[in-house]
Amino acid sequence: DRSVKIAPSILSADFANFGAEIEAVEAQGADWIHVDVMDGHFVPNITFGPATCAAIRPHIKTVMDVHLMIAPVDPYIQAFADAGADVITAHVEAGPHIHRTLQAIRATGAKAGLALNPGTPAEAAAPLLDLVDLICVMTVNPGFGGQKFIHSCVQKVTELREMIGDREVHIEIDGGVDPTTAPLVVAAGADVLVAGSAVFKGGSVENPAPYGENIRAI
Ligand code: DX5
Ligand code: ZN
Repeated sequence: DRSVKIAPSILSADFANFGAEIEAVEAQGADWIHVDVMDGHFVPNITFGPATCAAIRPHIKTVMDVHLMIAPVDPYIQAFADAGADVITAHVEAGPHIHRTLQAIRATGAKAGLALNPGTPAEAAAPLLDLVDLICVMTVNPGFGGQKFIHSCVQKVTELREMIGDREVHIEIDGGVDPTTAPLVVAAGADVLVAGSAVFKGGSVENPAPYGENIRAI
């Protein structure tokens, strides 16, 4: 389904070679580039911050989709906007002032995303629907690539699509997306699929064709 966007996560790419990896995966059909920022506090892993985002930005022709798994969020929003993020997604669980956070993201000119962990119900998004351009439904507990898809999250996608109504809000799925799980979430109303391990497996900058095969298989 070509109306569904595939957003490869560079968490599964070669960290020493982000620029070339991004160019390879875009040439192979990636619609967006998903950038996982982790702080070792909100999630039990550390990746990279705004300086890396700024460095990779010139290599991205499509959409730079920045997923912030950090707490606090607000002190860093402007830095990620300045780094060139098109979408900045914050977690509803990351602090007491998500409403303010989403307003602050939009004030930078970036699109605002709201992420929900697997343990958070759809209702958490209800008061925020007019402040978001994207809702990211986590289908694994965030922190690592290559985890198993949590099937009980599919019902949440159905509920969110109903709640969103005729608003223009993307539903993005993040975690364990592969050719088996993708159809389930698309049927429930998702239109952006993040995939790390399922896109990057078997390929490399020197041998990028598997990236394209993997994207088309999803
Ligand atoms: C998980 C990250 C995901 C991750 C997905 O914390 O937010 O974006 O890279 O990886 P896969 O597709 O391998 O589950
Ligand atoms: Zn992510």
